[in-house]
Amino acid sequence: MEENELILKEIKEYAINNHVPILQDVSLDLILLVLKLKRPNKILEIGTAIGYSAINFSKYLAGEDATILSIEKSEEMYHKAIQNIEKLNLSNKIKVEHADAVDYLGQLDENKCKYDVIFIDAAKGQYLVFLENAMRLIKKGGVIIADNVYFKGRVLSRI
Ligand SMILES: C[S@@+](CC[C@H](N)C(=O)[O-])C[C@H]1O[C@@H](n2cnc3c(N)ncnc32)[C@H](O)[C@@H]1O
Repeated sequence: MEENELILKEIKEYAINNHVPILQDVSLDLILLVLKLKRPNKILEIGTAIGYSAINFSKYLAGEDATILSIEKSEEMYHKAIQNIEKLNLSNKIKVEHADAVDYLGQLDENKCKYDVIFIDAAKGQYLVFLENAMRLIKKGGVIIADNVYFKGRVLSRI
């Protein structure tokens, strides 16, 4: 196994062993398929945790100046994400902002930067605020993805 793949495997194992809620394989595969087709230049992620999804997404960025901006509220998660991103030499591609996305998103100016893909994966209670901001910040033809809105099918099973 290549060294970077080994590091990514260790990050995933760390998440599982420490109950960090990273993307499930099936969701990750679906999002990676979207990214493969879309080949985004700018991705915005809300909810970094330890950087697992952002690191996976970075493989499908297109263009020399392509970047991911990811927002994380927890200080512990933020530091772990920075460590993991540095281990994989991806600091030039993935920028993590230590902030509450509810406040931070309001500071992002849609006239300065819009995103090809926006991935919402943080506190479910704030999804409407995140979505309103995502609609303002998404490029025309861009894709907004929200993880687990059906709570692993539990919401659907009540319909
Ligand atoms: C499901 S995890 C993210 C998993 C990550 N996207 C992955 O798949 O590797 C959700 C993260 O969002 C963070 N979070 C929750 N509310 C937030 C907020 N208002 N602003 C920023 N981050 C938040 C949590 O601390 C947690 O680390």
